[in-house]
Amino acid sequence: INVMVVFGGRSGEHEVSLMSATSVLRAMNKEKYNITTVGITKKGIWKLYRGSIDKIQSGEWEGIADNWAKENNFSTNISVLPSEEGKGIINFGDGKTEKIDVVFPVLHGPFGEDGTIQGLFEMMNIPYVGTGVLASSLAMDKAMSKKLFELEGIPQAKYHAFLVKEYKENEKEVLDTIEEKFTYPVFVKPANMGSSVGITKVHNREKLEKAIELAAKYDRKIVVEEGINGREIECSVLGNDEPIASLPAEIIPSAEFYDYNDKYFAGTSKFEIPANLPEDVIEGIRSLSVKVYKLLDCSGLSRVDCFIERDSNRILLNEVNTMPGFTQISMYPKMWEATGIEYEELIDRLIELAIE
Ligand code: DAL
Ligand code: MG
Repeated sequence: INVMVVFGGRSGEHEVSLMSATSVLRAMNKEKYNITTVGITKKGIWKLYRGSIDKIQSGEWEGIADNWAKENNFSTNISVLPSEEGKGIINFGDGKTEKIDVVFPVLHGPFGEDGTIQGLFEMMNIPYVGTGVLASSLAMDKAMSKKLFELEGIPQAKYHAFLVKEYKENEKEVLDTIEEKFTYPVFVKPANMGSSVGITKVHNREKLEKAIELAAKYDRKIVVEEGINGREIECSVLGNDEPIASLPAEIIPSAEFYDYNDKYFAGTSKFEIPANLPEDVIEGIRSLSVKVYKLLDCSGLSRVDCFIERDSNRILLNEVNTMPGFTQISMYPKMWEATGIEYEELIDRLIELAIE
């Protein structure tokens, strides 16, 4: 099977993608898969990468990858084209073309996980791992997905979404609305982003302003959420029309919340895999995860993140991640491992689901 693995990308989660892709590439069975590796720089240039897997995470790959485009004054090295047999082909610019049976876009955040690159592969008739266009964009946009969950009566934290433009035009009104609706602490988030990039937990009005300014660097739309006094629980879902849910896991953050540093660098958060919860709560989480997966019309994979309220044990949905972190120590594969599917097999299953 000819697989194109794509990593990097234009989003604030570029570095996370380098980590995920390194693990995926290491674990892929080289006898089964003929792998073509393509990196996307932060500026959005696609480069064919023939170098060692070990040079991806550090960013060194960029200097080693083919730079045909630059030499020829093109804006990109690679084009994705439909072929007459109905299967997509990738043109590497220098005259070489390669048939691709399936793409594994190991990309997180905007332009990777939000339906845009998925749309490109749809147009070119190339199967790809993971969720389709609509589900990807819905899940990426927290304002839209929360609206949908609200309409479907799925329990979640109170939220308020607004445009940066509205805030700039009338700061006081937006801040007053937030303070009327919530008691502190609240979370301020860019609507479209992942890995907690641009997110602040806020305890007062002064910090609220700063947090909105930070989130506004990443998106034109902001979401404010009430802080939940709850345990952070995640659940992995796998499949197309008949998805299955893993055993859930709990994250015990070492910081005030499970932020970017805590997720990827500090290494001080604790994880309980599987989570130590009563049987009925576990089943509640698994069935909510599958329900939400189907509601968004996900395919391939997603990780569903929830809270369990400390005083009531009520399950509140937080969000759905359609291309969750995929390193050897990431929650998505770890939860499958605890449920009986090893990392390597998980990759095989995802590729099968993409081409079935
Ligand atoms: N957005 C990161 C990669 C995650 O959800 O794991
Ligand atoms: Mg997320």
